[in-house]
Amino acid sequence: MADEYKIPQHVAIILDGNGRWAKKRHLPRGFGHKAGANTLEQTLEDAWDLGIKYLTVYVFSTENWKRSVEEVKGIMNLLRDYLKKSIERSNKNNMRVRIIGDRTKLDPDIIQSINDLEEATKNNTGLQFNMALNYGGRDEITRAVKGIATDVKEGRLSVDDISEELISSRLDTAELPDPDLLIRTSGEIRLSNYLPWQLAYSEFYFCDILWPDFNKEELKKAIDYYNGRDRRYGGV
Ligand code: FPP
Repeated sequence: MADEYKIPQHVAIILDGNGRWAKKRHLPRGFGHKAGANTLEQTLEDAWDLGIKYLTVYVFSTENWKRSVEEVKGIMNLLRDYLKKSIERSNKNNMRVRIIGDRTKLDPDIIQSINDLEEATKNNTGLQFNMALNYGGRDEITRAVKGIATDVKEGRLSVDDISEELISSRLDTAELPDPDLLIRTSGEIRLSNYLPWQLAYSEFYFCDILWPDFNKEELKKAIDYYNGRDRRYGGV
């Protein structure tokens, strides 16, 4: 009997290729990011439609600050636009939004908007959408280790309390299951500091398509790929 077709519960995506998409059209990079933001909105609907419960996307990394001031400003303004519309749209779709990453380094108006968005959508039971903003896996683990070390130093924890579960519970993704599937677009085959702890047992799917061109068919291909895999967690 054929195995049942499985929909991954949690999909993580590295959205890559916005700049190249714009370049191919002789447009400034910002047009690629705008197109990428539109693709992301459509992907939220497609993911839910296909039965995915958690979607976690890499929007801005701790390394992305190294881009030109103009490009960073453009991405932050796109984020502002997204956040402005997001409470109403998320509530209409019963979608819960969480932010992972170190939000303290973002502009105060953006911090306020993401706090408001998380609060306003916290009881929604539809798609659990997580946006990584100023996120870096090593930075996340470093922050968690500092918190644990402080608790040990001040007597709230003992060294023997430190376990994989405890560490997971101190990460930004504490409330989320680990991703089942990672997708990276645009042909790059690397992790770029994205969820290194959480992706330890996930399937990885890399495709050549540039992020603004990603669509439901591509998402289905990634899920097909996921179904061709036998996940043994190190067993036999
Ligand atoms: C990767 O393409 C994209 C980013 C680093 C920025 C991601 C931003 C968006 C998808 C738009 C913002 C969305 C919201 C909701 C604010 P790249 O620039 O690295 O492309 P390249 O590798 O071709 O240069």
